[in-house]
Amino acid sequence: MFITLEGPDGSGKTSQIDPLVKYLEQQDFHVVPTREPGGTDIGDQVRKVIMDLRNKAMHPSTEILLFQSSRAQLVNEVIRPSLVEGKVVLCDRYADSTIAYQGYGHQVNLKELQAIIQFATGGLKPDLTIFLDITAEVGLQRNQKSGKWNRLDDYDLAFHERVYKGYQTMMAEDPERWVVVDGTQPPEKVQEDMRRAILERLAQKVKSA
Ligand code: TYD
Repeated sequence: MFITLEGPDGSGKTSQIDPLVKYLEQQDFHVVPTREPGGTDIGDQVRKVIMDLRNKAMHPSTEILLFQSSRAQLVNEVIRPSLVEGKVVLCDRYADSTIAYQGYGHQVNLKELQAIIQFATGGLKPDLTIFLDITAEVGLQRNQKSGKWNRLDDYDLAFHERVYKGYQTMMAEDPERWVVVDGTQPPEKVQEDMRRAILERLAQKVKSA
């Protein structure tokens, strides 16, 4: 099963992954945690270029293609082979981030973006996507406080608000795939909600298999 985590910057997704993986492994699932951009040697090199605060001149089209190159490598090197082996792939961000950030944030044509994503992923879609819900403003404040700041955080608040709206639109269009978890709760409660959502979906998948 292919599970992705999405949310605004600073939503706290990344710190939830380790405990989630440990828990699922205790339940006898074989879990492959990964992330975007990155997740492979080649993807990690691309990630550095994307995130580097010195790359202020990066054009949105360049940014879009770099994200897709990292994704294509990850899909082919890690995600597809793991799914074929029956593993649970847990990916910190995936194609929805491109639609939210580049599509809604940078206001790039959504149809064109979908075509590039289709090319990069070969059409692979998640079975479940968990959205960690916090507002753009709170997320940015959290990142500023933690000193975790990258080139994309540096876009203005209006950009991040468009990203948030983009997620809301995507969730309304495909409610079956998404589960919303309140990211303002204490981390333990966020973890509990994520575990519940994943176990429910895994149980459904076993039933329908
Ligand atoms: P990262 O440090 O991994 O942030 P987070 O912990 O919030 O996931 O940075 C990833 C950044 O890249 C984040 O700002 C979202 C952005 N992004 C895109 O703009 N498009 C994409 O396709 C992906 C995968 C990420």
